[in-house]
Amino acid sequence: MPSFTVETPQHRYECVVQRGVIGQVDRYLPTKVGRVFVVTTKDVWDLHGQQLAASLVDRSYSVLYFPGGEQNKRLAAVEELAEQMVAAGGDRSSWVIGFGGGIVTDLAGFLAASFMRGVPIIQVPTTLLAQVDAGLGGKTGVNLVNGKNLFGAFHQPHAVLVDPEVLSSLPAREYRAGLYEVIKHGVIRDARLFEVLEQEPDRVLALDQELLEQHVLADSIRIKAEVVSQDEREGDLRRILNFGHTFGHALEAETKYERLLHGEAVAFGMRAATHLSELLGLLPNKDAARIVELIRRYGPIPNIEDLSVDNLVSRLKQDKKTIQGMVHFVLADKIGSVRIVKDADPVLVQRAIQQAILG
Ligand SMILES: NC(=O)c1ccc[n+]([C@@H]2O[C@H](COP(=O)([O-])OP(=O)(O)OC[C@H]3O[C@@H](n4cnc5c(N)ncnc54)[C@H](O)[C@@H]3O)[C@@H](O)[C@H]2O)c1
Ligand SMILES: [Zn+2]
Repeated sequence: MPSFTVETPQHRYECVVQRGVIGQVDRYLPTKVGRVFVVTTKDVWDLHGQQLAASLVDRSYSVLYFPGGEQNKRLAAVEELAEQMVAAGGDRSSWVIGFGGGIVTDLAGFLAASFMRGVPIIQVPTTLLAQVDAGLGGKTGVNLVNGKNLFGAFHQPHAVLVDPEVLSSLPAREYRAGLYEVIKHGVIRDARLFEVLEQEPDRVLALDQELLEQHVLADSIRIKAEVVSQDEREGDLRRILNFGHTFGHALEAETKYERLLHGEAVAFGMRAATHLSELLGLLPNKDAARIVELIRRYGPIPNIEDLSVDNLVSRLKQDKKTIQGMVHFVLADKIGSVRIVKDADPVLVQRAIQQAILG
C-alpha cells in the first residue's frame, strides 16, 4: 500500500493510496472524538456513501450536503454548513471529513479551518484532480466575486485517504482533466512518470489498476507531498506546482469558468508555458514537442481558437500570483525540471499564447 508523508513545521500526516480505503475511514479517527461531519455532494454520496457510512457505524456522525459547483464554492456555503454543525451538536471535539472532488475538499477544508477556530479534517478526495492535487497540501478556501480561491486558509488535514476504486464512476472528461495535473507532475519533477504516461496512454485511460495505483496516483502524490513538505506556504519551490497555471488561470477567467474544466485550462497553460520555454531557448525543441504531444494524446481539450490573445495577455497581469506587477512564469528547462522566470519578453509571451491556442 503506497503511503506518502507530508511533513510541515506544524503537521505530519499520511496520504494513503489503497483500494477500499473509503470503507476504513474509522481507522484514521482517534478513538475519542466528538461528532463527525461528512461534507459531501449528493452525487458522490449516492455513489459511494454507503461504503463510507459502513465504517462510521460506531461513531456519531452527520452527513452535510453541499450543492457542488464552482459558483457555490462561496463563504455563504461555509456559514450555512457551520450553522448545521452547531445545530447537530458540533463542538470543539468535532471532526470533519471532506468527501468529494476538489470543490468539496477546498470548502470542507476551510470549514474545518474556521469552525470553532479550527477542528481536524480527514480528506477523502474522489476525483483524480482532488486525489493528486486539491486534497493534499492544506490550501483551503472559497471564491470571491472578484476571483477564484481568494478567501481561505492553510489547514493541513489529519490524513488523506485516496481510494482508486471511486474513480471508476468518474466521467471520462473529469478523469482526463485530472490526468493533465499528473502530466504536470511529470514535467516539473519526474521524467520517469512522464515516460510512463507517454508509453502507456491506453492503459492509463482505461484506468489500469497497476498503472493507476503505482504511477498516476502514487508518483503524483509523492511529488506533491515532497514539494509541500519542503515549502508549505508557496515560496519558490511550491510555485513549481503552478506550471501551466498562470496561463491556465487567465484562460479560465476569460471563459468565465464555463467552457473548460480546471485541468483542461491547465493543459492549455502547459502548452503555452512549453512554447514560451522553447521560444526563450530554455527548453530543447525535442522536449517541447514531447510535452505538446503528450497533452494532445490525453485530449482533446475544448476548442478555444475564437479567443483573443490580447485579452488573455491582459488577464495574465491580473493573476493573483503576480507579484508587484511582474508575472512569474514557471518554465521548463527539460522534462522533469522547471525554473521560475520573472521577466519574459512580452512579445514572446504573446507568441506562445498564440501557438498554444492553435494547438
Ligand atoms: N486546494 C488546492 O490545492 C487545489 C488544487 C487544485 C484544484 N483545486 C480546486 O479544485 C476544484 C476542482 O476540483 P474537481 O476538478 O475535483 O471538481 P469538482 O469538485 O467539481 O468535481 C467534479 C464533478 O465530479 C463529481 N464527482 C466527484 N467524485 C466523483 C466520483 N468518484 N464519481 C462520479 N462523480 C464524481 C462532483 O460531484 C462534480 O460534479 C476547483 O475549485 C479548484 O480551485 C484546489
Ligand atoms: Zn491545478
